[in-house]
Amino acid sequence: MGKIIDGKAISQQIKEECREKVEKEGLKRSLAVILVGDDPASAVYVGNKKKACDFCGVRSVSHELPANTSEEDLLKLVDTLNHDDSIDGILVQLPLPAHIDEDKVIRQISPDKDVDGFHPENVGRLSIGQKGFLSCTPAGVIQLLKRSGVEIDGKNCVIIGRSNIVGKPMAMLMLRENATVTVCHSHTKDLREICKRADILIVAIGKPKMVDASYVREGAVVIDVGIHRQENGKLCGDVDFDSVEPVASLITPVPGGVGPMTIAMLMKNVVDGNGADDQLPYVAIGFGL
Ligand code: GUN
Repeated sequence: MGKIIDGKAISQQIKEECREKVEKEGLKRSLAVILVGDDPASAVYVGNKKKACDFCGVRSVSHELPANTSEEDLLKLVDTLNHDDSIDGILVQLPLPAHIDEDKVIRQISPDKDVDGFHPENVGRLSIGQKGFLSCTPAGVIQLLKRSGVEIDGKNCVIIGRSNIVGKPMAMLMLRENATVTVCHSHTKDLREICKRADILIVAIGKPKMVDASYVREGAVVIDVGIHRQENGKLCGDVDFDSVEPVASLITPVPGGVGPMTIAMLMKNVVDGNGADDQLPYVAIGFGL
């Protein structure tokens, strides 16, 4: 089916490019991965990140800490890694146990080692058009679109969701690609009508199968960032795939769409480092249209 965007294949391609770059340039990159507690889903994510490191020729250094680790000890560890010249990237797997302030921990990571792109400095750099680490999931969506031949420049892009890790950086990245961007959220009026105007509809709301064909213009490109486990054990997204697929020109499936891109873009951040050329802004200074 030509209209399915194959995130598994595209993420594999990106990881292979990372591996080639590491080999060709003889790069020695190291990623520190911190996992606090024993959340099974987080353990699986961290395991997959370490596997991706192995594939790309990146050294991963694991710090697995008990759930009762104090905030102070975690901040100290991050600080030690900040000053460790043998470490290029630091990843603290989220969510953290409730007694630890996630924002404080994210702010503790040096912006130059913040390969998740979560530090306020990197978020700020993105919004004012400076180079910096890009948040992996939205950066992965851009790669899915570009590598599927979707023209972004001048297109109407509607994003449903305004989270700090997807919706907001997604809006900034699409703006940087010269799309006309609308961000919708729980207070948006006439959501269906707004979505129907989208050439590119990006859905990141966290509600299983909420978006059906009635939200989608014939021929639109639909990107589903959601992932949910259904009662029957199968995964689904925020988009009702069976309803939307006949209407869309291109659509990401769940699983196998946006999901695998997050780790591929993490690898790209670790290998390329802060300040890679594709972090370049569309415009750096001044007012203007
Ligand atoms: N938890 C779920 N997704 C992510 C991610 O992309 N990065 C981190 N650090 N934690 C997560």
